[in-house]
Amino acid sequence: MLDRKNISKELAIVSEWVQKYLQNIESYPVKSQVKPKDIYSQLPVAPPDESESIEAIMKDLEEIIIPGVTHWQHPNFHAYFPANVSVESVLADFITSTIGAQCMIWETSPAAAELEERMMEWLRDNMGIPKHFEGVIQDTASTATLAAILTAREVKTDFKSNIEGVPNNLRVYCSTETHSSIEKAVAISGIGTKNLVKIEVDEQLRLIPEKLEQQIRADLDNDFLPCCVVTATGSTGTVAVDPLQPIAEICEKYDIWLHVDAAYAGTALLLPEYQWMIEGIEGADSFVFNPHKWMFTNFDCTVYFVKDAGALIKTFEVLPEYLKTQTRGLVNDYRDWGIPLGRRFRSLKLWFVIRSFGMDGIRNRLRHHIQLNQYFAEKIKESASFELILPPFLNYTCFRFHPGKIEDESKLNELNEQLIHNLNRSGDLYISHTKVKEKYVIRMVIGQTYVEQRHVDFALSKIEEVAKNL
Ligand SMILES: Cc1ncc(COP(=O)(O)O)c(C=O)c1O
Repeated sequence: MLDRKNISKELAIVSEWVQKYLQNIESYPVKSQVKPKDIYSQLPVAPPDESESIEAIMKDLEEIIIPGVTHWQHPNFHAYFPANVSVESVLADFITSTIGAQCMIWETSPAAAELEERMMEWLRDNMGIPKHFEGVIQDTASTATLAAILTAREVKTDFKSNIEGVPNNLRVYCSTETHSSIEKAVAISGIGTKNLVKIEVDEQLRLIPEKLEQQIRADLDNDFLPCCVVTATGSTGTVAVDPLQPIAEICEKYDIWLHVDAAYAGTALLLPEYQWMIEGIEGADSFVFNPHKWMFTNFDCTVYFVKDAGALIKTFEVLPEYLKTQTRGLVNDYRDWGIPLGRRFRSLKLWFVIRSFGMDGIRNRLRHHIQLNQYFAEKIKESASFELILPPFLNYTCFRFHPGKIEDESKLNELNEQLIHNLNRSGDLYISHTKVKEKYVIRMVIGQTYVEQRHVDFALSKIEEVAKNL
């Protein structure tokens, strides 16, 4: 065991490693090239009985672990959605780990609770979210959406489901494009996935409000209880933005909880020119977005805003003797605002990022990513061998390889699958796919914190080169 009063050598070794990693990240293959069990088989079957030196551990980190890491912070990482970090956030997370506070209630770290409260207000006020919403940090969007659906369930059943169990006629609605976390939350909540109704989308893959209302009316006629609608402000497959205003009007008319899943695209609300995405937000009940995707803040950090914090707290509150405090009711005890009791000091990294970047710095970086994406999409559009599937949006382009002579859809799907596979296997860049109306398409996301024009040019030339060789 290390002596906590004498760690200068170990700190120097680790901090040098961190510096080198950040400086040399472009020398690693973006996607790990290992095969299943490559890492596992190099790890001893039993733990050491004797203490090992930091040097020995770091050597194995470099030789065994790092080859099995996919480098999400590599500027050529364009897969899924990013989980970008910044130096500021890394430093803050190091301090958070050092402090090691467990911030379940105000008393167990007043600064954590109060910094969280203030950070939620900073973000809310800069994102165009009304002032009567209150915020809380959760671990992931999946957890926040589960919290929303559980609260909706309790509100709809007059807070009886927690006590008596869940009636089997509650209904939740989302589009066919919304994230799988909604299905998971509906299953876990006891509402049952047979009561999750997926509503048809339009040409731009946005939920069609008229279809939603038709379904709600039909359900009411059949003795179902419409409980919650989840809209996507930036769906996972194609970053589609559901029309919030008409959906909010429907929810108000039928008294249904409205939850907005902006896990990815929510960060763009920091740019006033994108706040149209949540027109109608006054009519929503809850909203989630992930600073741990595109806001330069280490995973995990999800922001959840709720209009009626009282309903949220009533859903989750339990008060064992050992958690009773004298400050209860005077302060925010965030253990009551979500599922876990224990909580990390996550607001610290938001504070570091926002103060060190400044809001202008954050907005400039986001706009830079959006401009790089427009450039990328323009090049794809100009190319005779590629086809834009949807107009580029934010920092996302959906396209496919489509050489003029091939019109057979299944052949095109095969070619695009092969293209992605070959690109990712090269280790030079990492991109991922989705399906749009049965077409296998490529999703390009330009959201790594330090990505620059040269990385986008590299991606373009690499994609062209690999496609040519198919
Ligand atoms: C729209 C959307 N919602 C929810 C999620 C789930 O996010 P998390 O990993 O934070 O649970 C994702 C993940 O990509 C997403 O794109």
